[in-house]
Amino acid sequence: MSKHTATLIDNETGEQFELDILHPSQGPKAIDVTSLYRETGILAYDPGFMSTASCWSDITYLDGNKGLLEYRGYPIQELAEQGSYMETCYLLLNGELPNAEQLHEFTDRVVHHTMLHEQIKRFYSGFRRDAHPMATMVGVVGALSAFYHEYMDIHDPENRYETAILLIAKMPTIAAWSYRYANGTPFVYPDNALGYAENFLHMMFALPTEDYTSDPRMVRALEVILITHADHEQNASTSTVRLAGSSEVNPFAAISAGIASLWGPAHGGANEAVVRMLMDIRDSGKPLIHFLEKAKDKAQKFRLMGFGHRVYKNYDPRAKILRELCHDIIDKSPLAEEHHELLDIAMKLEAVAMEDDYFISRKLYPNVDFYSGIIFLSMGIPLNMFTVMFAMARTVGWVAHWHEMMGDDKSRIARPRQLYTGKTHREYPPIDERD
Ligand code: ACO
Repeated sequence: MSKHTATLIDNETGEQFELDILHPSQGPKAIDVTSLYRETGILAYDPGFMSTASCWSDITYLDGNKGLLEYRGYPIQELAEQGSYMETCYLLLNGELPNAEQLHEFTDRVVHHTMLHEQIKRFYSGFRRDAHPMATMVGVVGALSAFYHEYMDIHDPENRYETAILLIAKMPTIAAWSYRYANGTPFVYPDNALGYAENFLHMMFALPTEDYTSDPRMVRALEVILITHADHEQNASTSTVRLAGSSEVNPFAAISAGIASLWGPAHGGANEAVVRMLMDIRDSGKPLIHFLEKAKDKAQKFRLMGFGHRVYKNYDPRAKILRELCHDIIDKSPLAEEHHELLDIAMKLEAVAMEDDYFISRKLYPNVDFYSGIIFLSMGIPLNMFTVMFAMARTVGWVAHWHEMMGDDKSRIARPRQLYTGKTHREYPPIDERD
């Protein structure tokens, strides 16, 4: 088969350049502009990476028009219905689902890394009690570099795999302790007899004064949340991890950068923002249409949180799964009445938005963050912990991408260029000659 190329013609100079067209196993083809600048002196301009593929990746595929999401080829719905988070982690890291023995061995490896170095406990007391737990997460995960990095060789695949397991294992402990510190209750050590999700709930809610057993329905709901949030190809936080990691920084620093990126309300911080918005709607006493009109008004900064996505131009398949889950578990919540009210507002908001031409024409559908917050509330997770939950789940995706990138011989330091718009060359004036 002849090489597939595209011709770029500079209409000013008449010069023509041949550029290769690349074909992934599925998804849009891409023009290879790697050598564009070297060969033509012209840069590619794409702020926000609207049309840019930044790497080759085997991990996750999504088709935004069809509302399709697959980890290593397996549809998210099947993984969420039938799989476990440990299986999903194994799949994302290794490319295949584990057999029973592999799963047992993998889970065992994770379980044996759940503890934190005792010294790490002291980092928490350096934070204000009212610190946002995401601030604590950025700090404590970054601080892991000071404890575990020196024994790791980031160029050795086995070492990288070990680091990935270590991060997946320690994240629930770090996350739960950021909550315990904020509310002044003692840190609870991991219990390695419990599964991943159950152990997290145990570290969040158990008290030294009484027995604690998690509700199995909440454990399963958390498992589904973890699976649905585990990876999402080159989103902002994963790209941040890849970009930070491309300088060959240690993985703890790279993941800490990813957590920082996730925190923003345009990304993972939206789950907290959604519930705050639903509460504002409830407390305002104003009709839904008021908020819808406000979201459409370009003069206002307000957007419908939990709506819209850079890639999905159809219903986010994760939002579908979580909407059903929300209905399933909400009755079990100790504050069922309040949560029903919020779910009711969310459903009505979705219904009016889905009939509004502004949202229809821009293909703005509910995203993963729209329903997850209500589920977290039902679990008793406080609002400011929502994005921490997301970070815990996404850690496997981040480390899988970091691992893949470090093993890819096409990887190099990520260093975008710019189109300079500032002043051109001028002489330095002595201070007494300045206006
Ligand atoms: N409410 C109202 N209008 C919206 C919304 C929204 N939630 N989202 C997008 N729009 C409008 C924009 O104003 C724009 O309108 P225009 O064409 O008239 O200018 C159009 O839809 C396209 O929006 P962009 O901002 O250009 O889309 P982009 O792909 O850059 O942004 C994003 C995607 C950030 C998710 C955006 O939809 C948004 O801010 N949503 C709310 C926050 C949110 O839920 N984030 C979570 C995303 S999922 C995740 O990260 C896990």
